[in-house]
Amino acid sequence: MTENLTTRTSPVSTTDAPSRRRRFLDGVDERLGLKGLQYGVPEHANKLAYSLGGLSLFTFVLMVVTGVVLTQYYDSSPSRAHQSVHEIVTSVTLGKFVRGLHYWGAMAMVVLVGLHLLRVFVSGSFKRPREGNWVIGVVLAATTAALFFTGTVVKWDQESIEALDHNTEIGKLLGRFGFWFSPKFSGISQLGRLFVAHIAILPAFFTVVVIAHLLLVKYHGMAPSPFRKSSQPEPTEPFTRHLARLGAFAMVVLGVLALLAVLAPPRYGPTPVAGIEVTKPPWPMLWIYPVENLVGVSGILWATVAIIGLLFIVPLLDRGPERDPRRRLPVIIGGAVVVVAVIALILFAAFQPVASHVGGG
Ligand code: HEM
Repeated sequence: MTENLTTRTSPVSTTDAPSRRRRFLDGVDERLGLKGLQYGVPEHANKLAYSLGGLSLFTFVLMVVTGVVLTQYYDSSPSRAHQSVHEIVTSVTLGKFVRGLHYWGAMAMVVLVGLHLLRVFVSGSFKRPREGNWVIGVVLAATTAALFFTGTVVKWDQESIEALDHNTEIGKLLGRFGFWFSPKFSGISQLGRLFVAHIAILPAFFTVVVIAHLLLVKYHGMAPSPFRKSSQPEPTEPFTRHLARLGAFAMVVLGVLALLAVLAPPRYGPTPVAGIEVTKPPWPMLWIYPVENLVGVSGILWATVAIIGLLFIVPLLDRGPERDPRRRLPVIIGGAVVVVAVIALILFAAFQPVASHVGGG
């Protein structure tokens, strides 16, 4: 009997199976056009530096997935928010891990977006005809910052309530344009509205803008490597191979984030107290703190406008066709000065004593 089965099944598995598989794949391709993904991309696009945009996108997807889980248990009413986060960490199955992944994923996204921006800057990939996509990238970076800020508020501990107070003050500075940041805007609390921004408005906006960004990358193709000397066209590899490498990088990122979520879960502060200032902003926003100490809350507004404005005009500041960073030294040194200044301000602020800015208290 066993022998019968073997003799009857073995020809099927050795000769028919591959052709069935082939026919299945061809059938899927006929319907979904997957072979269209095998277009060529230049070899240099497979390097880690050129995969940072894809990895930024991966962390965004991770934030959406973990965020959807957290949203099932989070209560955005100011009286319940803190307790609901406490319950996520203590009572929800895998809640502490998912919150840790969301927290470390946010840090990773900020770092990856920053590194991607620097890679594009240093390799001169924003130059003609990609200036428009650089501007779209700046909008994505600003949206990432807004997602990070609103996330800081929704966890609703002391850091959060102080961040919200600053937000209200900035709303006042914006005059009639700051109406949305006022506690009196509607019957829904500021926390409730910032939560909607965090889970719906900003992610939806990010998704639309990132689709435009990716369509433009596809339309223009990857910018040539700034270091390529040969006049011969660069060899290409199928985009599907690039996706496979990107997937491998993404799994490493996921592994590191999962380890951090287990070994270093985010802190969870006590119930927030209104009207006091005893915390500093999280590190990605910490560079603004010394500016705020110097000129008050308006410093947050001016520093943010200045850095975003400066990023927008990069294609105007560096217009020639040269991409090689060694031949664009003034611009590269200018960029390095900004990066070093931001890092120095973060380190300086980390050692500064906590100061009070809102309400003069
Ligand atoms: C915030 C999330 C972002 C995502 C998900 C994203 C995604 C991507 C991806 C997948 C690519 C192609 C592969 C690569 O170059 O890594 C790319 C290219 C590009 N990105 Fe982004 N990006 C983001 C932010 C930015 C920012 C902040 C800037 C600049 C201000 C920017 C400017 C560009 C430009 C100019 C290209 C074309 C580069 C080339 O042709 O070599 N992107 N982006």
